[in-house]
Amino acid sequence: MTILKDKKEIEALRDGGKILASVLKAVMEEAKPGISSLALNNLAEKLIREAGGRPSFLNYKTVDDKSAYPASLCVSLNSEVVHGIPSEEKILKSGDVASFDIGMEYKKLYTDMAATKLIGHGLAKTENFIKTAKGSLEKGIEAARSGARVGDISFAVQSFAEKSGFEVVKKLVGHGIGRAAHEDPEVPNFGKKGTGPRLEEGLVIAIEPMITFGKSDVFLDKTDQWTWKTKDDSMAAHFEHTIIITKNGAEVITRA
Ligand code: MF3
Ligand code: CO
Repeated sequence: MTILKDKKEIEALRDGGKILASVLKAVMEEAKPGISSLALNNLAEKLIREAGGRPSFLNYKTVDDKSAYPASLCVSLNSEVVHGIPSEEKILKSGDVASFDIGMEYKKLYTDMAATKLIGHGLAKTENFIKTAKGSLEKGIEAARSGARVGDISFAVQSFAEKSGFEVVKKLVGHGIGRAAHEDPEVPNFGKKGTGPRLEEGLVIAIEPMITFGKSDVFLDKTDQWTWKTKDDSMAAHFEHTIIITKNGAEVITRA
């Protein structure tokens, strides 16, 4: 069941989104060669708590998950697609493609966002790949407005990524969000225009394209039971915003 948010909830979501964006910005500024992913997690958690929020990923678990997620931030490097667990031993190095995903509960409402950064220096093709992944999220956001359908977003994301020679991950999807970290509807990163649930004013969704440089098949790491990786070991990028559907389009609430 999709939940439409009222005025007061929208206000709280806006406040939370603004905070979350500033937290991720600070974390990504510190993401440089030599720092561990655990240090970045600890910074994220500290900033969220200082702002009066609760890190919503910490201890998150669905019936499908073998264990609770043990951190506040996901840091996924290179062929890791999403849900990489921060560790003292994971030290960022120049050339790494690092994806950061973060969620927060604030005034009882949930926001969620992600972004990918090239650490230090890398190849132009890597920069172009990350730029395309970001572009595919922007295309998805442009397709979102009341009266349109989820499939319009999906199509916009997929066609932009594929036109550039990359693939979209199909096993993992975006989602409704607000009163819970995950709500209906699912928001796939592939699909056809004019299909799927209709977007209504007051619907809040997280659009989150996961793009791969090579093949988009992914698998779940057997050891930690959280990290999704590409089967062909090619690099992946992930961008996510929480948006509110309005009459005129989409209001991005997690923009810094
Ligand atoms: N943005 C991701 C999602 O919506 C983050 C979830 S990480 C978890 O699935 F730790 F909360 F599982
Ligand atoms: Co999400």
